[in-house]
Amino acid sequence: MTRLTDNIYASEQQVADFNFDQRVADVFPDMIQRSVPGYQTILHTLGLLTERYAQANSNLYDLGCSLGAATLMMRRHNKQPGCQIVSVDNSKAMLERAEQHIHSYRGDTPIDLRCQNLQDTEITNASMVVLNFTLQFIEPEQRLDVLSQIAAGMNQGGMLLLSEKIQHADPVMNDVLIDLHHEFKRANGYSELEISQKRTALENVMKTESVETNLQRLQQAGFAHASVWYQSYNFCSIIALK
Ligand SMILES: C[S@@+](CC[C@H](N)C(=O)[O-])C[C@H]1O[C@@H](n2cnc3c(N)ncnc32)[C@H](O)[C@@H]1O
Repeated sequence: MTRLTDNIYASEQQVADFNFDQRVADVFPDMIQRSVPGYQTILHTLGLLTERYAQANSNLYDLGCSLGAATLMMRRHNKQPGCQIVSVDNSKAMLERAEQHIHSYRGDTPIDLRCQNLQDTEITNASMVVLNFTLQFIEPEQRLDVLSQIAAGMNQGGMLLLSEKIQHADPVMNDVLIDLHHEFKRANGYSELEISQKRTALENVMKTESVETNLQRLQQAGFAHASVWYQSYNFCSIIALK
């Protein structure tokens, strides 16, 4: 896939709420790579987790799949027979690009791409579920329901990978992590204007919470074990096991 440069917020503008539209879909690989510290590490580890947790004759879900990076990683690493990957996103622009992207690679495990709200996706016979920076776009009061439905649809020994941008419970440490993240974005070529306008765009649509809130909610939802396995600045990834 050709990687177009993200310059959506490069010029001064009346900033609207962030939305996964065509403009974002077109530059998404560049945007996520330059904005989310550890994104490649998380994808790489998802490959290892697929080898460990995918169960024969089960479903593997990628909820909020964007262009299908996690889907492709699961397909590349799945060694189990009879599996299906169900990849869901409610952005038509993202899903159209995901379809082209996925079809440019070969793989044995079938992929069912669905343009729908993940809250309407029935989770059944799941050995793996991925929410890679997606739950943060669901209203906080709806998150427990989403996670409870996932837990209920998972097989014993199934694994959820939950990655989220987080807000540190200590406001001083929160500011430190935000500053470090902004340094990361500057080092990746984003200007002060781009950083500040993107922040404004995300303000109403991405609600971050602490690691502790996320872990407590996973336990409440029915996961027997959960732990942060990775954190880079204010971006973290959690493994939860049923
Ligand atoms: C930050 S991106 C996820 C990145 C992707 N998981 C990856 O690993 O490359 C968030 C995605 O979630 C999707 N999304 C947000 N809310 C959703 C919902 N309620 N149902 C389905 N998809 C949703 C967005 O359209 C967007 O593509």
